[in-house]
Amino acid sequence: MKNIKKIRQDFPFFNHNPDMIYFDNAATTHKPNSVIESISKYYSYYNSNVHRGIYKIAEKATHEFELTRDVVKDFIGSKNRESIIFTSGATESINLVAHGWGKHHLSSGDHILLSQMEHHSNIVPWHMIAKNLGLNIDFIPIADNGELDLSHIDQLITSKTKLISIVHQSNVLGTINPIKTIIKKAHEKGALVLIDGAQSVAHQEINVIDLDCDFFVFSGHKIYGPTGVGVLYSKLDVLNQMQPIVGGGEMIKEVTNTGFTLNHLPWRFEAGTPPISEVIALKEAIKYIQELGVSNIFEYENKLIKRAENQLLDIKGIKIYSPNKNKGPTIAFNIDNIHSYDLTKVLDEMKVAIRSGHHCAQPLMDTIGISSSNRISLSFYNTLDEIDNFISKINKSLDILI
Ligand SMILES: Cc1ncc(COP(=O)(O)O)c(C=O)c1O
Repeated sequence: MKNIKKIRQDFPFFNHNPDMIYFDNAATTHKPNSVIESISKYYSYYNSNVHRGIYKIAEKATHEFELTRDVVKDFIGSKNRESIIFTSGATESINLVAHGWGKHHLSSGDHILLSQMEHHSNIVPWHMIAKNLGLNIDFIPIADNGELDLSHIDQLITSKTKLISIVHQSNVLGTINPIKTIIKKAHEKGALVLIDGAQSVAHQEINVIDLDCDFFVFSGHKIYGPTGVGVLYSKLDVLNQMQPIVGGGEMIKEVTNTGFTLNHLPWRFEAGTPPISEVIALKEAIKYIQELGVSNIFEYENKLIKRAENQLLDIKGIKIYSPNKNKGPTIAFNIDNIHSYDLTKVLDEMKVAIRSGHHCAQPLMDTIGISSSNRISLSFYNTLDEIDNFISKINKSLDILI
C-alpha cells in the first residue's frame, strides 16, 4: 500500500483539518481529490442529462455514467452490467427489494429471517411490508462475543422462509458474518438472500458470484464516493421477476394513454434523472480503492483495529461489545459510569470525531442491554499514531469526566 502520508494528501479534508482525528468512517468516509474533481469536471465541462441528448457533451455524460456501471460490475465480481442498478444508497436499495420483489413474491404466512445486528435500513422496510402481507419476521440471535449464534440456524430457516436479509459486516460491532455458509443453507431450503454490504465493501474483497447472493447492496459515500448514490446488485433472473417501485421517464420503453411497457434492465429500475455527477464520481472512488488493493486495506486496517483494541482494553471499566476475532475496523464500547455522549463531546473538544448513540441499530442495543455506546470506525487513511493519540485523549477525557 502507498505510504499513509501520501494517501492523506489525496484527501483535501485532512489538509483543511490537519489536527483532527476522524474515527467515524462507518458513518461516512472522506473523498479523495479524484472524486471531488470528477464532480467538478462534470458540472464545469459537460453538464447535461444522460440517455437523452445526442449532442457530444450529452454523449460524454452518458458514456461516463455507464462506465461506472462497468467499474462497479467488475468491483463486486458481477457477471453482467445489467445486474447493477443505481439507487440513492443502501437504504433505497433494500427498500427497492422489499417493495419491488417482496410485495410480489411474498404472501401471508411467509417468513423473513434477519439478524439481531441489523441496521434499521435492513429492518424497517421488512416491517413495512410484513404488516400488509402478513409475513413473519425472525432474527438470528447473537452470542456474547458479538458473533451470530448459528447453532439453531437449521431450525430458523424453514420451508416458509423466502428471504434472508443480513448484514455482511456490523456497523456497530464490526463483526464479519459467515454469509457464505448462510447463503448456502438458505438456498438449500429455497430462500433468497440479500446481503447488506454497506459496511463491508470498503474493507474486504466482494465477489457476488462466489458468494452466490441474490441481492447485494451498498452506498457510495461509505466507500469514499459521493452521497446520493448507491447500488443494488441482483441476479438477472431475480431482477426480471421484480417490479419497479418508481414510475417515470427512463424506466419505460413506450407510454400510451392506456399504459406503458418497461425498459430493459437495468434502466427499468432507474426512473427519472439519476444522480449523474455522483454516479460518474463513484467510479473514481472505486478505482482509488482498487489501486490501494482491497486486501492491502484489510490487512492494514486490521493492524489499526488490533492496536486500538489492545490499548482500549487497558482502560479501567471499559466494556468492548465485540471481542471477537473476525471483524472489520469498528469497535463499540462503553466505560463504566461515563455516558457515551459525554465522552464523545469531550473528545470533540480535543478534535477527535467518534460516534455515540444507538448507531441505527436499536434492536441490537436492546439485546446487548444498553441504549447507547461509543463507536470508533477506522479507514486506511488512519494511522497508528492517531490510535495512540486517541487513547491518550480518552485518558485525558476521563480525568475530566470522572
Ligand atoms: C450496515 C448498514 N446498512 C445500511 C446502512 C444505510 O446506508 P445509507 O444511509 O447510506 O443508505 C448503513 C449506514 O450506516 C449501514 O451501516
